[in-house]
Amino acid sequence: MKTKFLILFCATSIITSCTTPTDSKEEHFVEDLLRKMTLAEKIGQMNQLNFDQPLDSVKAQIRRGEISSMLNIDPTIINEIQKTAVEESRLGIPLIIGRDIIHGYKTVFPIPLGQAASFNPEIVETGAHIAATEAREQGITWTFAPMLDISRDARWGRIAESLGEDPYLAGELGSAMVRGFQGDNLSDNNAIAACVKHFVGYGAAEGGRDYNSTNIPERLLRNVYLIPFQKSIEAGAATLMTSFNDNDGIPASGNDFLLRKVLRDEWNFDGFVVSDWCSMSEMIAHGYAADRKDVARISANAGVDMEMVSQTYIDYIEGLVAENKVSMQVIDDAVRNILRIKYRLGLFDNPYIDTTKATTIYSDKHLQAARRAAVESAILLKNNGILPLKPEQTIAIIGPMAHAPHDQLGTWSFDGEKNRTVTPLRALQTDEYKHIKYRYEAGLDYSRDSDIKNFSKVKATVKQSDVALVFVGEEAILSGEAHSLSNINLIGAQSELLKAVKSTGKPVVMVVIAGRPLTIERDLPYADAVLYNFHPGTMGGLAIMDLLYGKENPSGKLPVTFVREVGQIPMYYNHNNTGRPAQDWITLIKDIPLEAPQTSLGNTSFYLDSGKDPLFVFGYGLSYSTFEYSDFRLSSHEAGINDTITATATIKNTSNTDGTEIVQLYVRDLVGSIARPIKELKGFQRISIKAGESKTVTFKLPVSELAFYGKDLLKKVEAGEFDIWIAPNSKEGIKESFVITE
Ligand code: BGC
Repeated sequence: MKTKFLILFCATSIITSCTTPTDSKEEHFVEDLLRKMTLAEKIGQMNQLNFDQPLDSVKAQIRRGEISSMLNIDPTIINEIQKTAVEESRLGIPLIIGRDIIHGYKTVFPIPLGQAASFNPEIVETGAHIAATEAREQGITWTFAPMLDISRDARWGRIAESLGEDPYLAGELGSAMVRGFQGDNLSDNNAIAACVKHFVGYGAAEGGRDYNSTNIPERLLRNVYLIPFQKSIEAGAATLMTSFNDNDGIPASGNDFLLRKVLRDEWNFDGFVVSDWCSMSEMIAHGYAADRKDVARISANAGVDMEMVSQTYIDYIEGLVAENKVSMQVIDDAVRNILRIKYRLGLFDNPYIDTTKATTIYSDKHLQAARRAAVESAILLKNNGILPLKPEQTIAIIGPMAHAPHDQLGTWSFDGEKNRTVTPLRALQTDEYKHIKYRYEAGLDYSRDSDIKNFSKVKATVKQSDVALVFVGEEAILSGEAHSLSNINLIGAQSELLKAVKSTGKPVVMVVIAGRPLTIERDLPYADAVLYNFHPGTMGGLAIMDLLYGKENPSGKLPVTFVREVGQIPMYYNHNNTGRPAQDWITLIKDIPLEAPQTSLGNTSFYLDSGKDPLFVFGYGLSYSTFEYSDFRLSSHEAGINDTITATATIKNTSNTDGTEIVQLYVRDLVGSIARPIKELKGFQRISIKAGESKTVTFKLPVSELAFYGKDLLKKVEAGEFDIWIAPNSKEGIKESFVITE
């Protein structure tokens, strides 16, 4: 049994890095304004309206100081509506205009799950910065992103919006996204306020069914689900959104423990908290609030500063204050938090958009960045040598996703325009690829299509070609909010289409374009190569061609586990070992003799039908290059609490092709005061290595990074033995070990 010592991450150690240093000018401004405000005006600042009422009525409410923020407003009237707030309301407090800019504004980047496959914070930061530049130019000052919900369930449609299953990866990429949206200074004309969401646990919805309850104990919450939120707040995220779910019976918009103790007291967050869409009034349906007045009381006291859409604050706070059920202190603090962010956005000095400025929307720079992101987000899952394609081969373009300009943009792309989408088919018509000879026969009109009437035409087309590229996957509407599935096989007749193509005897490349990790095990035998793309956005088609033709070398790695069967869910790499971990020699259903006597002795944790392993593990992804890992060295095999361990290895590109490898660092804490995960990601690096060359990769691992919330719920490093891997994915790699001493 090992001992524990030293509290490393007390709240105070974070305070210094996670807040903007108190700017006395800012605080004076906020306090001055607050002093001038009536209670009604303060409550108005806590109210966010969806733009679904006649303009005149909205303007009247703004004039009366009843609205602080609007969402889903037509960008062309932002100046007009801002003028009403600034010039026609008593105190002239500008509106903060929110919008869901999740993976690009007009120039659409791959969905967040795709961006996560790049393991590249720079790609994510650039994407968010470009989205902010395009959006602020139109008067949008606040986005509801990044979404930081750890997701271990591909049935959940919102896995598309997530940064995957790992808290370290989501934390690194989430904070990169915050930096990208917010830039150096929120008042810059290419910065918008970020909103980390959904706080918290929403991705653990039971059964993967959206809006469902979660049951995450506090320790797991702290060791997994809170990590990306804390990191992104340390990176300066201006706002935070509560989630829809109840966790262990407490709806997130009424959870004072999370919103006051964790967020404010421990993390010292000084931005504002917004509820999700009607997540406050939905506490009535949860059975947590009796009526709308009760909703307002619970959420205000829990620490929700701004109410999205459901309007209970506007209707009831005044009465609740009179009855002493909500204090003026609570109201003043909420308003301070909101005004502070409006001040930082520079809205008081500069509320309007300059409509005479040249637009950056769809600039070449933005399009090329989206293409680069799509290249780095694609994952090569299988290749028996057919890829890269040769330019002289005649190709057959098959499948419903070869030309699906709307669907390629993915979920949450309200502002993306399908006429700007470069689909794979359109890519073949560009100057760069027009020399390729191809024939096109979709076979199915859309992913759900199950009409096989055109399959004979498909086969005839394939027979006249050297190689078939079959584009399958999901329409955008099959993932995202409220779009959970209980069956995640290829939908419609897409598996049959693949089989029909394979029956021609021609080599088949399966290109998947989807919003989630689908269960594709049954399809793999019919494909000689598989390139997986989470909806890749505006430039996806060109990126796919770049990869298929070897102009780019695939480098993406999976940010989520791909299961064999939906029944394996949840299956994730950083699970506990159990008392009976599955061995290599498991007995599957086909091996069980008839009338076998019941026995549990010697048995381990796996499924009789689908075994113990997923189809593809977290961190997996192929390249046209091959890499060899060797010479693992640690700076020391023994370290103390304040030390940093340096781990190095040699990575050799053993192929004839230059390539990029995402090298991953994992650790395992062998014995703890609680059972610990069998592996945890602690670092990653993208390393470009020329054909035949070697590079040394170096990871610096501060021992403090090994801290976790143990039996006593305090964050500490526990002394003892650790295994450490430098690895190409979460299953393989070269291993060493070290001891942490007291
Ligand atoms: C979603 C949020 C989104 C909000 C505003 C809700 O339904 O859960 O993620 O930001 O709507 O559109």
